[in-house]
Amino acid sequence: MKIGIIGYGSMGRMLLWKFSENAGIAQDDLLAANRTSEKLSEAKDIATICDNTTLAAASDIVFVCVRPSDMKTVLSEISSALKEDALLVTLNGSITFDMIARLVNCKTAKVIPSLTAEIDRSQTIVCYNGLVGADDKTILRGLLSSIGKVIELPENEVGMGSELVSCMPGFIASIFDVICTSAGSHTSIPREQIVSMVLNTMSATGDLMLHKDLSFNEVVTRVATKGGITEEGTKVIYDMFPSAADEMFNKTLEKRRLTAEKAAAAFES
Ligand SMILES: NC(=O)c1ccc[n+]([C@@H]2O[C@H](COP(=O)([O-])OP(=O)(O)OC[C@H]3O[C@@H](n4cnc5c(N)ncnc54)[C@H](OP(=O)(O)O)[C@@H]3O)[C@@H](O)[C@H]2O)c1
Repeated sequence: MKIGIIGYGSMGRMLLWKFSENAGIAQDDLLAANRTSEKLSEAKDIATICDNTTLAAASDIVFVCVRPSDMKTVLSEISSALKEDALLVTLNGSITFDMIARLVNCKTAKVIPSLTAEIDRSQTIVCYNGLVGADDKTILRGLLSSIGKVIELPENEVGMGSELVSCMPGFIASIFDVICTSAGSHTSIPREQIVSMVLNTMSATGDLMLHKDLSFNEVVTRVATKGGITEEGTKVIYDMFPSAADEMFNKTLEKRRLTAEKAAAAFES
């Protein structure tokens, strides 16, 4: 089975190296192409470097890891070269299966990895068009397991799914950035030490909940005893944070809708 990756940017580079190092895909079975081909020289010992059409003609699974604005160009270029039974995998939530099918009508999957793939703990969203069978799903799931957990969703939920796993590292980082900055204004503990204390507690709290199957409410109740100090803080969060969280999703989902409209218009043109 040959795996091809078009695009050697943030996502393409990450997948290429993870498929080689974690999934053990041999150099002969791993193909890579990029618009600026020189960038691929660092990968010459783990993959076979070629152009887009050579890659498409040789690969059983083709990952297209380019920005939405470049997607139409790449799909038009490879459509006639793709193997009849190839599985096409795109990485963008804004390009729908219907849009892709106008250029390439083949087995197609959409995959949205998260930044945490860097430590092999991605929460990768995957969805399929109606042509993808059980065997292909098993193969793709196996491949994606090399970067973490795989979550299957229907196409209409990929947007919100992406908010929850792909955008979430940014949301979490910004929330705790605000908390650390506020903490810093109330203490002489150096910022670096505050960040380390909060990050380790945040990470351990997540692991504790996952390992012990605890709910948010159980953790809050265990720490915030009635009338105690923690309860003062959790009350403020439950009073004031919901409106910020609602506003955050209102804004991001609206932006997602506008981005999808723009991508569709670019695809039509
Ligand atoms: N970054 C994320 O966290 C993330 C997460 C989930 C999904 N995604 C999605 O993944 C896709 C890729 O994102 P990215 O962050 O990896 O983008 P990126 O860093 O900008 O990389 C895009 C790559 O595509 C290459 N490319 C463009 N046109 C090409 C063509 N005609 N033929 C071959 N290669 C071409 C570019 O080549 P050059 O070197 O010449 O520029 C570049 O290496 C996007 O659709 C994005 O929405 C990203």
